[in-house]
Amino acid sequence: MVLELDETPHALVFSPASVSTLARLAHGMGEGPAEELYVAGAHPTIVVPNADATIEHPAVLKNLELLDRDGCRIFWPTSGAEPWAGEIAATIFKELGGPLQGMRILVTTGGTREPIDSVRFVGNRSSGKMGLAIARQALSMGAEVSVVAANVEAREPGVDWVSVETVDELREAVVVLAGESDALIMAAAVSDFKPTTALKEKVRRREGLSVEFVATEDVLKSVREENPGLFMVGFAATHGDPVPDAREKLGSKGVNLVVGNDISQKGIGFGADENEVHVVGPDGARFVPRASKREVARVILDELEIEIKKERQR
Ligand code: CTP
Repeated sequence: MVLELDETPHALVFSPASVSTLARLAHGMGEGPAEELYVAGAHPTIVVPNADATIEHPAVLKNLELLDRDGCRIFWPTSGAEPWAGEIAATIFKELGGPLQGMRILVTTGGTREPIDSVRFVGNRSSGKMGLAIARQALSMGAEVSVVAANVEAREPGVDWVSVETVDELREAVVVLAGESDALIMAAAVSDFKPTTALKEKVRRREGLSVEFVATEDVLKSVREENPGLFMVGFAATHGDPVPDAREKLGSKGVNLVVGNDISQKGIGFGADENEVHVVGPDGARFVPRASKREVARVILDELEIEIKKERQR
């Protein structure tokens, strides 16, 4: 295959790189367009050595050392497994930098579950897709990203990942990580209520079941008390126009932005791949018409970047 490029690529990835590719790159003898670009000085370059036995050979290790010294990012194969494409992509984003470079962003996602007894819980319909899209987008804009995920099956490569189940576990994780973060994006659907007592054993049908609930502690509010300088983004899911509720939450929760969406509309919000939101800040609201959650995430992070710049100028 002949590779024709109109412009120099932003990054080069050799995956999997055979031992002969490693040798050629290490010694500046590019063969073919990609290797020639490397030899000509195109960076950043990510090398994923072929996970075969010859990797242990001293000559191969020496070539890898040379490439490392020349500034290549090397993915060392672990337990013979090739790295996940997502992990490679995350590394490329970090190498390339971006508008959020130097920022540590904490994202919560998913939906918390509160135990009723040893087998039952009360939860919500959040799939975690919106939060994961934000985490991925923040990574691609150069940020360091931590995710606190409540009951989310998927894993996001390239981020620090903490799994939680209940609102109390989520709050504990967020309180600790918020202290090390520049921004918190609270996309998780956090239980507003939890059973007053969680029963240790399974309740039998014949016993009957009625559950009393108590309101949970507001995580955003408690994080704000401890971290007055943290940039915080909250969410507001409402039936009907979300802007008034989002404006109210901006003040009552002490957050810098609120992302509001109307969950009565079909095909957006919980579980869907699309969303339609209003990003409400101190100077007004930006409407984001129905779009993929990835695109919506981009707008949310653009607004975050704009607001942070404004805060710094104040
Ligand atoms: N949230 C939180 N702690 C809770 C409940 C919610 O930090 N115990 C966060 C959510 O993650 C979301 C925002 O607060 O970012 C709004 O959540 P929502 O449930 O809509 O708001 P509430 O404060 O519970 O108010 P209400 O249910 O009355 O609208």
